[in-house]
Amino acid sequence: MAATRDSVERAGRRPLVSANWKMHHDHIAALHTVRDLSLRLGPSEQGVEVSVHPPFTDLRTVQLLIEGEHLPLVLGAQHCHSADQGAFTGEVAAPMLARLGVRYVIVGHSERRQLFGMDDSQVVATVQAVRRHGMVPIVCVGETAEQRDAGTTEQRLRAQLEPVLQVLAPEAMASLVVAYEPVWAIGTGRPASHVDASDAAAFIRSLVAAAGGAEAAAGVRIQYGGSVSAANAADFVAEPDVDGLLVGGASLQAAEFAEVIRSVAACYRSAAS
Ligand code: 13P
Repeated sequence: MAATRDSVERAGRRPLVSANWKMHHDHIAALHTVRDLSLRLGPSEQGVEVSVHPPFTDLRTVQLLIEGEHLPLVLGAQHCHSADQGAFTGEVAAPMLARLGVRYVIVGHSERRQLFGMDDSQVVATVQAVRRHGMVPIVCVGETAEQRDAGTTEQRLRAQLEPVLQVLAPEAMASLVVAYEPVWAIGTGRPASHVDASDAAAFIRSLVAAAGGAEAAAGVRIQYGGSVSAANAADFVAEPDVDGLLVGGASLQAAEFAEVIRSVAACYRSAAS
C-alpha cells in the first residue's frame, strides 16, 4: 500500500516540492525543461505547490514562461546577498529577485555554507533581506556525517535555526519554509531514512513552537532534501511533520521530477479520501 498522511489537511499546510537545479541548465535548457515539466502536470497535481530554482541567468526566461503561459509553477532562486545593493562583485540582491517575480529563495544551502563560507549570521541577514522584499526564505539546515556520528544532530539543527527564529515574529515563522538537508545525504544516493527525516522535522517544529508558539509551529513548512527520488518521495511526505521536498539531481529532468510531484500528490490525495 502506498504511504499516506492526514496531518497536512488538519494543519492546512500545502505541500511544497522545490527543484534546486544548482549550477545546471542554461536558459535554453531551462525553457525546455520547464515547458516539458508543465505538460506533465495535470489537475491531480494541483494540491502540490511546485517551485523551480534555476541559476540566476535563467530567471527571466523562466519568469516569462510561467507568467506568459500561466504554468502551475512558482519561481524560486538559489541564493542572494543580504544587502539591497552595493559593491559586491558577482552577487545578486533580494530586490532584483523580487522584481523578477521570485517567490521562494533558498538561504544557507550546505553548499553555500561549505564551499562559499556562508556563516549563520549571514544566513540570518539574508533571511531578513528576502522577507524585506516580500519573498519567502527556504532556510536550509542539516548535520554533517561527523556530527551525526557524534550524536550532535539536534545540537547542530538548533544552532543553525535558533538565530533565524530570534529575528522573526511568530507570524513570520508561520510562513517560513525550513529544509532539513543532512549534508551526508546530498548528492550521494544515500537518503536519510524516513524515520530520521521525521524525527528531525519534528525537532525543527518543536524549535519553532518554543520560539513562536503553537500557531507558528503549525504553519511552518518543513521540507526534506538529500537524494530524493521518485521511488522514495512518498515515504518522506507520509511523515506527519514533513511538508515537502527540496530536490536536486532528480529535479533536472522533467519526467523524473514530474514523477516525484505525482507521488507526493497521490500521497496527500489518498490521505484526504
Ligand atoms: P540531491 O537531491 O541531488 O541529493 O540534492 C539535494 C539538495 O541539495 C537540494 O537542495
